[in-house]
Amino acid sequence: MPIPILIDCDPGHDDAIALLLAIASPEVDLLGVTTVGGNSGLANTTRNALQVLELAGRPDIAVAPGEAHPLSVPLLIQDHIHGASGLEGPDLPEPRTEALETHAVDFIVDKVAACDEPVTLIPTGPLTNIALLLRRHPGIAELLDRIVLMGGGMAESNVTPAAEFNIWADPQAADEVFSAGLDVTMVGLDVTHQALLGPDDIDRARGDSARVVAEFLDFFGHFHRDVYGLDASPIHDAVAVAHVIWPDLLEVDEFDVRIETESPLTRGRTVVDLNRVTGHEPNAIVALGIDGERFSRLLVERLYRLP
Ligand code: RIB
Ligand code: CA
Repeated sequence: MPIPILIDCDPGHDDAIALLLAIASPEVDLLGVTTVGGNSGLANTTRNALQVLELAGRPDIAVAPGEAHPLSVPLLIQDHIHGASGLEGPDLPEPRTEALETHAVDFIVDKVAACDEPVTLIPTGPLTNIALLLRRHPGIAELLDRIVLMGGGMAESNVTPAAEFNIWADPQAADEVFSAGLDVTMVGLDVTHQALLGPDDIDRARGDSARVVAEFLDFFGHFHRDVYGLDASPIHDAVAVAHVIWPDLLEVDEFDVRIETESPLTRGRTVVDLNRVTGHEPNAIVALGIDGERFSRLLVERLYRLP
């Protein structure tokens, strides 16, 4: 039986590839997509999600927009990485389908209630929608299997020397999600920085989706070449989806994880008690290691299944 999942995202190049991986993988059943302001504004991330679903031949998968702004700090979009549209590179047609009028939180509640199996939530952007879901519907926890999120880092950071973007963008939301007592898996930069894919890893002749992903990576690669000197890009968000599909891809263990919400210097830091010095009960499963080569190979194989 495929695992029912919902992806809450801010496409964003790696979010887009995460959506394509989910659609191409029979191990999971993508019940729907919700969007949030993050890499780009909400109108862009929502349009981008619609475009990616149509590219993959799945316009039937509904998209419900959520929050445009974080709970308590201004949104700082990442257009220097993802471009003005949030998904620069390929020339994708304007979507023929429209997003739902339903808010992301209500959509998630409806989908989870209608599913006869516990649902796995896969957030790959700021956690604003997920925090509001838990605030407004605390009982939803009974209907969820787990949350597998891309975010944070034990030692790695990106948006500041201390923090990873998804957590930094809405630290209050992240703090509420990590302290809600749910089964949370944190797929952080320590593993996603080893999950690399470059445009030359893809045969563009293998279909429109393969060609478009190569064009995503042409653009996404500019930032990673200029800043990190890499000739490939970390496909952060696809690692969270890959972990649900192939659990043995990641080495994980459980730890106490706290979120810094106050300090201007270390806002958004995921403080992982690796040596268990606090005596706190673990509240999250944390990704420690990844077979990066296997991830890239499996991802490309799945992308070739798409139209
Ligand atoms: O730090 C990486 C994360 O921030 C990814 O989800 C990327 O899409 C951006 O949202
Ligand atoms: Ca993202």
